[in-house]
Amino acid sequence: MKSPCVHITTYGCQMNQLDSELVAEVLRASGARLVADPQAADVLLFVTCSVRDHAENRVFSNIGKLAARKRREPHLVVGLLGCMAQEHGPAVRRRAPMIDLVCAPGRLAELPALIADARAGRKREALDPPRGQDAFAASDVALDGVEVGRPLCGNSPGQAYVVAMRGCDNFCSYCVVPFVRGPERSRPPVVILEEVRRLVGQGARQITLLGQAVNKYAAEEAGRRWDLADLLSKVAETPGLARLSFITSHPAAMTERLAQVFRDVPAVIPYLHMPAQSGSDTVLTRMNRGYTAAEYMERVAMVRALRPGLAVASDFIVGFPGESEADFEATCDLVRRARFSGAFVFKYSPRPGTAAAKRLADDVPDAEKRRRNNALLALVEEITGEENRKFIGRTVRVFVEEISPRPRAKKGSDPLSVQGSDPFFARGRQGDRLNVNPQLRGRTPCNRIVVFDGPPSLVGTEVDVEVVDASPLTLFATL
Ligand code: 5AD
Ligand code: SF4
Repeated sequence: MKSPCVHITTYGCQMNQLDSELVAEVLRASGARLVADPQAADVLLFVTCSVRDHAENRVFSNIGKLAARKRREPHLVVGLLGCMAQEHGPAVRRRAPMIDLVCAPGRLAELPALIADARAGRKREALDPPRGQDAFAASDVALDGVEVGRPLCGNSPGQAYVVAMRGCDNFCSYCVVPFVRGPERSRPPVVILEEVRRLVGQGARQITLLGQAVNKYAAEEAGRRWDLADLLSKVAETPGLARLSFITSHPAAMTERLAQVFRDVPAVIPYLHMPAQSGSDTVLTRMNRGYTAAEYMERVAMVRALRPGLAVASDFIVGFPGESEADFEATCDLVRRARFSGAFVFKYSPRPGTAAAKRLADDVPDAEKRRRNNALLALVEEITGEENRKFIGRTVRVFVEEISPRPRAKKGSDPLSVQGSDPFFARGRQGDRLNVNPQLRGRTPCNRIVVFDGPPSLVGTEVDVEVVDASPLTLFATL
């Protein structure tokens, strides 16, 4: 049988983007060809997200659209990967019968065999063990091997994600992640350091360490304990590495030791993604977040005192069960006090199996969730707009990530294209003149998006630009 032609569609977070790179690497090593055009592929893989109902519905709808093609091309293989794979298991075929293979986040190294079986007509699934069975070691080691050996991905010259921790043990009452990504496992420092060294050797200048609650990193190696502060300090010593960051931090695990890294390690960028989720103590308790709004603000103040100008970004859920108007006002209040550099706002979506879905009625009407969502976003943008305007007239050092994608140009043009709207990846404006430099997009050290016209050769490098204008999501600059 000729080798498979594979197209990958990615939904969701940075962890999924990295998983898609690993899938691409595993498949390339097995002789498969990765293609940018789904029509040219005979294997269609979907790396999916379960965090909200809306994300799942989009995947079901896009897979559903393949029904006619699957009838015309019975050998077409459709694979469900990522969090939805673990969440639904083989039962997913009741809703989407055209799915041939189901592969959980921890089992990606087995994909070549799963695809070969699917092409031979055998529907298969590879799922992670249920929580509590601690049987991850072998599949983690297999994934580590793929991750360490992968080439720097061409989609993001100069920038790479590296997993520090897999899984989550926090059990925030609304969240499905602890169920689909399993218990917390910190990767050994030696593996992470080797991976960073190799990526930087291939030209990565900016490394982002990933984990669901990455500041709970805890490893033991040669009798020594490592926390995230140790790991960041050591990774920062990699020659050639310019910028180091880490996402996502849990407020309850934000220590003074970690805050000091912002003061003491210059490569660590002044950017902290630390979701507050709510500003109401009663809601935070029902969410099982483990901190009060006052404690959250204290931690923000502690880090900012050690690194003035630090940008803090957050996530919020509106319309959580029982959220009153006063609770919502408390959230708006926290936003006003914290002056975030950006925030994602989500409408609460009950996830099957979570404590909130089991015990708390989803009692905020959808229209009210939408109203709070829009109101909170407007408030966030008012503040980010004010903060961004302070940059006008300043010279900032930008790490150039890419040529600004034109609206919709990305779809299908890139084998690892990410679907979804992400306020931190706002689209840039294309110049309307012909034959001039394209618009480039990069980031300040505090992770704000900057667009400016410049030669494509700057992609993957750092350059100084002058900020001439600002919107809530973007700084506009000239070289
Ligand atoms: N409903 C709405 N938003 C959620 N998030 C996680 N679970 C849910 C849910 N059930 C949000 C949180 C988290 C982000 C990744 O997604 O804000 O930080
Ligand atoms: Fe979900 Fe909470 Fe873990 Fe984040 S820390 S992944 S919100 S359970």
